Amino acid sequence: MAMYQPNPNRYQSMRYVRLGRSGVRIAPIALGLWQNFGDDCRYDVCRDTICAAFDAGVNHFDLANNYGIPAGAAERTFGRVLAGELAAHRDELFLSSKAGYTMWEGPFGDHGSKKYLIASLDQSLRRLGLEYVDLFYHHRPDPETPLEETAEALEQIVRQGKALYIGLSNYNAEQTETMLAELERRGLRCLIHQMRYSMLSREAEGALFATLHSHGVASIAFSPLAQGLLTDKYLGGVPEGSRMSLGHTSLQAADLTPRRVSQLNALNGIAAARGQTLAQLALSWVLREGGADTLIVGARNPGQLNDSLCSLKGEALSAEELDAVEAILKS
Ligand SMILES: NC(=O)c1ccc[n+]([C@@H]2O[C@H](COP(=O)([O-])OP(=O)(O)OC[C@H]3O[C@@H](n4cnc5c(N)ncnc54)[C@H](OP(=O)(O)O)[C@@H]3O)[C@@H](O)[C@H]2O)c1
Repeated sequence: MAMYQPNPNRYQSMRYVRLGRSGVRIAPIALGLWQNFGDDCRYDVCRDTICAAFDAGVNHFDLANNYGIPAGAAERTFGRVLAGELAAHRDELFLSSKAGYTMWEGPFGDHGSKKYLIASLDQSLRRLGLEYVDLFYHHRPDPETPLEETAEALEQIVRQGKALYIGLSNYNAEQTETMLAELERRGLRCLIHQMRYSMLSREAEGALFATLHSHGVASIAFSPLAQGLLTDKYLGGVPEGSRMSLGHTSLQAADLTPRRVSQLNALNGIAAARGQTLAQLALSWVLREGGADTLIVGARNPGQLNDSLCSLKGEALSAEELDAVEAILKS
């Protein structure tokens, strides 16, 4: 790539969403680096995808200790772009990391102990080449570590300036309520909650969204395309090179039942009638009134990312279109 010059109009072409009761505003679509940014991927494509996001006004990039193949590789990839193309732009970026899933061997490399969370964030900062992340998440609830200990770790991380804000991920409504109260007791606020949410995963509707709403905590949906199922790639089978064909994640060929394929084709029809791709329809749906505040999309290359970002230009879904989607999902 010749010397990278970011698009000077990136902030004019994007609208920004305030996260709950906070001063933070991010683009409604963030880029996530779980898949597609590891050592198994071409670095130039990773770099170009990150730069394409930045050029479009995307200011939030979502990472975790264990992202990439091998675990940690995605943070190293992002750190390399941050030291290069984006070196002058650190303060325009809202960067998150997480710990909570298995990262290293032995009892200290997983779950929610203070020992794990503090050590893991230090490792993430080294991989990213940063002094602090903007947002640090506890990645999943740990039923065995006392909640107070996990909260204490999050408090220490914020007080030491290693993260500016904290978030929770994969906590259900009840676990979220309990943790929010524990954080509040310590004078801390949870900025954001990251949950799986798409047309095909709707557990967050109801209690979790209501809890977040009542506490002024923002929501950010992960896997909004159901890992690629809600795109046009699986309408007629499993294309080679797709996430399903690689088998690295929970997305398996068994998910592609005849019922699912016919639902996807019907949803694709609604998308086409709106002049959208299925991916764009799925993202517009997640960001509809009553859905998530923001979302994190995955992308294998700049083309996929730009296609997904175009969903922000689409008309809001009408009541009739929402009803039609609902009917298909129930069919
Ligand atoms: N907190 C958590 O526990 C958790 C869990 C999962 C994810 N996350 C976060 O959420 C992010 C997104 O998750 P995800 O990667 O599962 O999200 P996703 O957006 O549902 O799926 C991304 C995949 O969809 C396909 N795709 C994306 N845009 C497309 C387009 N416009 N047209 C056609 N296909 C398209 C690509 O599949 P192919 O690769 O097959 O081309 C891509 O790899 C992660 O990177 C991570 O930051 C968090």
